Amino acid sequence: MQSLYLTVVVIVAWFVLCGVMWRLHKARQSVDTKLNSSVLIVYASQTGNAQTIAHNCAQALSLSTSSVMALNNVTLEHLNQVKKVLFVVSTYGDGEAPDNGNLFAKHLNSELPTADEKQATAAGTLVLSHLQYSVIALGDSNYPEFCAFGFHVNQVMLEAKAELLEDVITVDNYDEQHTHLADITPKWLNLQQDPQQITAVSSPQYWQLIGREILNPGYDDEALLQLSFNSIGATPVWQAGDLVDIQPQHPVDRVASWLDKNNLDGELLLTYKGQQQSLRAWLAVRELSNSCPPIIDDLLEQLPYLSKRSYSVASVSENGQLQLVVRLLRKNDNSLGLASGYLGHYCQLGDIIQGQIKSITQHHNHQLNKPIILIGAGSGLAGLKAQLAARILAKRQGNSDIGDSWLIFGERNSDPQLPINQLLTSLKEKDLTKLSCAFSRDSQHPKYVQNILLNEQLLLKRWLDNGAVIYVCGCLSGMGESVQQTLLEILGQTVVEKLQQQGNYIRDVY
Ligand SMILES: Cc1cc2nc3c(=O)[nH]c(=O)nc-3n(C[C@H](O)[C@H](O)[C@H](O)COP(=O)(O)OP(=O)(O)OC[C@H]3O[C@@H](n4cnc5c(N)ncnc54)[C@H](O)[C@@H]3O)c2cc1C
Ligand SMILES: Cc1cc2nc3c(=O)[nH]c(=O)nc-3n(C[C@H](O)[C@H](O)[C@H](O)COP(=O)(O)O)c2cc1C
Repeated sequence: MQSLYLTVVVIVAWFVLCGVMWRLHKARQSVDTKLNSSVLIVYASQTGNAQTIAHNCAQALSLSTSSVMALNNVTLEHLNQVKKVLFVVSTYGDGEAPDNGNLFAKHLNSELPTADEKQATAAGTLVLSHLQYSVIALGDSNYPEFCAFGFHVNQVMLEAKAELLEDVITVDNYDEQHTHLADITPKWLNLQQDPQQITAVSSPQYWQLIGREILNPGYDDEALLQLSFNSIGATPVWQAGDLVDIQPQHPVDRVASWLDKNNLDGELLLTYKGQQQSLRAWLAVRELSNSCPPIIDDLLEQLPYLSKRSYSVASVSENGQLQLVVRLLRKNDNSLGLASGYLGHYCQLGDIIQGQIKSITQHHNHQLNKPIILIGAGSGLAGLKAQLAARILAKRQGNSDIGDSWLIFGERNSDPQLPINQLLTSLKEKDLTKLSCAFSRDSQHPKYVQNILLNEQLLLKRWLDNGAVIYVCGCLSGMGESVQQTLLEILGQTVVEKLQQQGNYIRDVY
């Protein structure tokens, strides 16, 4: 009798505990979806620009951080709580969505069956007629599908009967240092009216080149270089997954011939926006157009800055130095790529360059206790090395619970004497659980990282069952796209999307 009584007590206690846990879970869910503002700012961003603009807008409007979220996290419940939405979205791939925006339309549609009836038409399409919105679309007009994803989001909203407040604002090649927020935001945000609303742009960061090693000497047409820099002034903080935006410079000869052609004295001192330096120094970072503005004072207003180029960091800031891995781009006419040529050839040891660290939160992997599968090729070694550096640092700091790491890496030549292959071997000996290499130029049967994934798919699944995070770094066309396709083949779309949403499939591909 006593044991029956005890069993009943245990069962009742169990139900009470389950009830409490369920209520706690529901409460937490409702906190997550509760917004405390009538404006929602939504971003979709691959390399951080749209995300930065979204946060800067929120800061300028004194909105709480919960008013800013990635497009993939937006639900109907969020949209029902607000009156206005500002979309800040970039375009990625070939006119596609960034990784944190690619599930948006799918999410909204999948919620339709449970949505308020008024929100679904008879045909089952979404109706958001209570919403007003604007779109800031980031892109690069060098791509054929300029700002395509921004226009797609606009189309989805228009079809849902939401009201577009202003034409879609397109931003070509956004550069935080040279773009005023007020110039790229819709008028209804009123950002320019209150001077206190102006958000701080991070001051320029400078770095001294202290080391440059060719990782594949003898292969001049496709040199891969490892560069090391010391910070000038206080070392900024960055983590694995972050980028640095480098301000490229023209080779000295290029500036000299432009000055000659336009009969200008390079030593002439010019003051622009409170800074004085020689005309030669000013021109090194400007587009050198065919026609020179006739009035010298107008020169710097009219010649835009050379666009910055992003590079994945290959080190963590705790190690002191900023490291990059750069592929020297050689064009068909044998000239070098502007930024890779500047970093990898023209810049001399001791020279100082400008580069802004950009924090890319969606590339951060804080789950160091979980295994990691690092996949990449060529210059993608940068992002993979940074992930390993974070793990090595955590171990050194006494964290004994670090997951296994498997590097799947593709390069061109397998020659064991090449520094790149010696670097891989030393990583294998010290820091990796498993190394799998694919070489594309060795035999009649070139091998790529996606071949390794296919051959090792059982092992891949076992690592994923153990909670592994996949981190991919390198070129999108070729490597990044093939890896994505192969993962879809092996794991299926649902699993891949789930991994992505959980932050367990991270792509730093370009
Ligand atoms: C997120 C990200 C991370 C990257 N990480 C690395 C890395 O770790 N290592 C590495 O080697 N590379 C990396 N890259 C590529 C790098 O940013 C450069 O694209 C590459 O070095 C070639 O640039 P370049 O100036 O040498 O060549 P350029 O030929 O001068 O330029 C090459 C490409 O840049 C674009 N471009 C050219 N002119 C302009 C212009 N005026 N305005 C805007 N775009 C222009 C064009 O698309 C062109 O095809 C990364 C790119 C991105 C987006
Ligand atoms: C791999 C890659 C692909 C891109 N594809 C496009 C494109 O198809 N159309 C476009 O307008 N811009 C394209 N861009 C340019 C980006 O949209 C632009 O750099 C933008 O400022 C990035 O913003 P984000 O940092 O928020 O992702 C591409 C950029 C990269 C790196």
